Amino acid sequence: MTTMDTSEFIDRLNEDLASEYQSIVQYTQHSATIKGAEYRSIVEELGNHLGQELEHAKTLARQIDFLGGTPTVVVPAVPDTPDGAAALRTDLELEERQLQRYRERVGEATELGLPDVAEALRPLLQQTQDHVSDLRDALGD
Ligand SMILES: [Fe+2]
Ligand SMILES: [Fe+2]
Repeated sequence: MTTMDTSEFIDRLNEDLASEYQSIVQYTQHSATIKGAEYRSIVEELGNHLGQELEHAKTLARQIDFLGGTPTVVVPAVPDTPDGAAALRTDLELEERQLQRYRERVGEATELGLPDVAEALRPLLQQTQDHVSDLRDALGD
């Protein structure tokens, strides 16, 4: 990693926060609209993800505020999906991007001398890995 200061780190946390907003909107829509017996258990799982995404958003907002930043209120656009499989594929891709982001963020927090922030982000890292696993299983990946 090259030179990164706290202000750049706060910008990245705000991008993480916006991505969690997208998850909340996406899972709200998908858990209500994905139909079919084959998707019954993953749809129930999406409802559980949704609750955890709200916690992730709250954690990020608190860390951003603690570091002196302002938590974003910008919600990214959610892509249209033609069917359940495409919706789950979109969910998986978003979770995989988030997993990569949190892996980077925990390392960056540590490098910036913010082990408390790294610790606060750790549950997001583990739960995002679980969400990736759930979606991969559902899609047979
Ligand atoms: Fe999340
Ligand atoms: Fe997630």
